[in-house]
Amino acid sequence: MSRSPAPFGRRAAKIVARETLGAYVVIRASDPGGPVPRPGQFYMLQAAERWGGGEGERPFLPRAFSVLRMIGSPPTPELHFLIEDVGPGTNRLCELEAGEELLLVGPLGNGFEAPREGRGALLVGGGVGIAPLAIWQDELDASTPALLGFRDAEHAVGAGLMANASVATDDGSVGHHGLVTDLLEEQLDARGDELEVYACGPPAMLEAVRATCVRHAVPAQLALESGMACGFGACFGCVVPTVDGYVRLCLEGPVLDAERLVGAAAFAGTGAGH
Ligand SMILES: Cc1cc2nc3c(=O)[nH]c(=O)nc-3n(C[C@H](O)[C@H](O)[C@H](O)COP(=O)(O)OP(=O)(O)OC[C@H]3O[C@@H](n4cnc5c(N)ncnc54)[C@H](O)[C@@H]3O)c2cc1C
Ligand code: FES
Repeated sequence: MSRSPAPFGRRAAKIVARETLGAYVVIRASDPGGPVPRPGQFYMLQAAERWGGGEGERPFLPRAFSVLRMIGSPPTPELHFLIEDVGPGTNRLCELEAGEELLLVGPLGNGFEAPREGRGALLVGGGVGIAPLAIWQDELDASTPALLGFRDAEHAVGAGLMANASVATDDGSVGHHGLVTDLLEEQLDARGDELEVYACGPPAMLEAVRATCVRHAVPAQLALESGMACGFGACFGCVVPTVDGYVRLCLEGPVLDAERLVGAAAFAGTGAGH
């Protein structure tokens, strides 16, 4: 699996800009001297100021985020993160202003691997799960097809972050009325033997992608999420079951081959309450 090692310890990055994108926020931070992330890797983030002390004194711990893209090159790269405000940590990150400090550890985990010989990539994203696919498409080629599923039109604005995208929405307000896995099924029926699937999204979507790919005998690399307290192997909070036993997703993932997963059980964990 492909990995850029993170430097030991936490460092401060300056927020360069915050942009609202439909239901999401993109924060951009300069990371001078930071390693170049591999697509699919993630960072543990927290605001330098006013982190904790909210409702129930949360958030206590940093939060995990896939890198959306990296603009510019070392020594002054700019990291972008796509964030959906779902709780105290994401809420605080979404209000960061230019000039404020973001504390980060990363890049962490293992990213995506190139498609197997004779196959081309098909990207499948759900909601904020499009983040690792955008940087992967940047590296592969802008013509790499992407199938993206969203709740509604406000969330589907996020599709603008990627090229060559076909969109599905739950309410039919944009693109196909239905699930992104309907679009996947069509693609795999038509040319499954030419494709390798790369997917990230909510647990139910990932399980449907896994099952669909198994049925069509198409290889898939899935970027999973689970509750992560540390991000570097110390807490065992992120374990998922695989055919080789339990693994720590922050170390062996977050990208895992679909064939290593044991079905829906791998997608059950979430990270509430830290
Ligand atoms: C490797 C990785 C990459 C991620 N990338 C992104 C990203 O690019 N953009 C983004 O917006 N979010 C991403 N997440 C999810 C993000 O970490 C959580 O939304 C965040 O921790 C929620 O913190 P909170 O304090 O705002 O809300 P909390 O109150 O902690 O959680 C709000 C709700 O989200 C659920 N939740 C929390 N963490 C997770 C999780 N890890 N998986 C599934 N459900 C969870 C909780 O059960 C709860 O229902 C990623 C998570 C992982 C593990
Ligand atoms: S998040 Fe702590 S071991 Fe994985």
